[in-house]
Amino acid sequence: MEAVFQRCIRPACGATAALDDTSFVCPRCGGLMDVAYDWSKLQPPAALRDFEKKWAQRGNPLHFSGVWRFLELLPFAHPEKVMTIGEGQTILQRADAVAQYAGLNAGCLFLQYEGMNPSGSFKDNGMTAAFTHARLSGARRAACASTGNTSASLAVFCSATGLMRAIIFIGSGKISYGKLAQALDHGALTVQIAGDFDDAMQRVQQVARKLGIYLVNSINPFRLEGQKTIMFRVLEALRWEPPDWIVVPGGNLGNVSAFGKAFGELADLGLLTRVPRLAVINAAGASTFFQLYERFGVRWNNGQPQDKLIDGYYQGLDAEKIRAATIASAIEINHPVNLPKALRALERCGGVVREVSDQEILDAKAKVGAGGLGCEPASAASVAGARKLRREGVIAAGERVVCILTGHQLKDPTTTVAYHSTDQKTFDDVLGHRGVRRATFANRAVQVPNDLDDIIKAIELYS
Ligand code: F0G
Repeated sequence: MEAVFQRCIRPACGATAALDDTSFVCPRCGGLMDVAYDWSKLQPPAALRDFEKKWAQRGNPLHFSGVWRFLELLPFAHPEKVMTIGEGQTILQRADAVAQYAGLNAGCLFLQYEGMNPSGSFKDNGMTAAFTHARLSGARRAACASTGNTSASLAVFCSATGLMRAIIFIGSGKISYGKLAQALDHGALTVQIAGDFDDAMQRVQQVARKLGIYLVNSINPFRLEGQKTIMFRVLEALRWEPPDWIVVPGGNLGNVSAFGKAFGELADLGLLTRVPRLAVINAAGASTFFQLYERFGVRWNNGQPQDKLIDGYYQGLDAEKIRAATIASAIEINHPVNLPKALRALERCGGVVREVSDQEILDAKAKVGAGGLGCEPASAASVAGARKLRREGVIAAGERVVCILTGHQLKDPTTTVAYHSTDQKTFDDVLGHRGVRRATFANRAVQVPNDLDDIIKAIELYS
């Protein structure tokens, strides 16, 4: 057995595939694959603190990258094959004003700001890893279905490296302008499908298989290896003392799966004695994971989740023609491809799932913005979810909580402007039909005549 390989996530199957295999489904049972390591043949760090030595060597691109700085914990890549564009330079920021909103004590809420990545979302953490793997396999074209951020990241990596041609599948009218702008500007072949993300996801898998195109959706286990490093950076910022909770929005469930794998591996390697709990937050209009986990009690069950219940749930959605619908377009997904891995992650870390309304998401987003870090709607689901869990008493006021801000504020300016708008029609057009009734924390522009006295009067009145 090689030191690095791919392995079916179901223990009862356990089929393996070579490191450079690009089918990303189990050759025996068709399930999801993991990147697997035989750590006895590798050199994991003796202590997490060892990574700090790399801080002084930022001239080395592999040490500058917030992903590859942790190469020893995702050791599938040879250093000379790594494709990096400086991803993962992100910060964990203490956010007391947001803590107060969520009902947490001062000093207890931290925001992990993944919007600072080159393409403006956490996806770059995974894309650098997928690109590095694609290089191993000699791929010339890469594809994804996307609600906008995976596609933006793919487009940026393709244009920045010149390594592959980007082919992206998006649901028609389903992605925000900021994200569409990125795909177009960075030269991706953009295929708009008359359908939503769930339709596009099915199609891209068929097309990738047929045409031998490298798939970069999070069904690709190498993506998740890169996304593990978000947790390594959180630990690093907390000087290797795990928080009590990680709260993350859930869409295709790649992040939570990656986080669970990261903590599981650190614990197995003896590098962490306690793992944080994981909370996944769905939008109420796209809440498959919440329904299955919290309502129907579906569990990992040692790799045998209750398939009948899951299939029945999906059949019910289809029979009633229920499609995902939320203002948080990034997580407007009803068929999360990483569901089994996410169940495994929650089992490993004692997880919970909640759903939050679009109203709660947008109010939390305004609070995040007022607190200094701008995020897109989906990201704010994490803060809205932390607030809900605090109100339920699941999270205590003195526990340390990290919310992941997955994407930048400028990804979806339409929603932000509508929320703060003085114009009722703009508000109604963008938000009203979503059940959003009020802009609780709106910061409205002040309308004044073009007259110096009026302008001065307005400023004195409002400041
Ligand atoms: N937040 C943002 C900003 C996202 O773009 C996504 C997913 C998520 C959260 C959910 O993360 O899928 O790991 O549970 N966006 C994907 C895309 C689906 O195509 O850009 P997840």
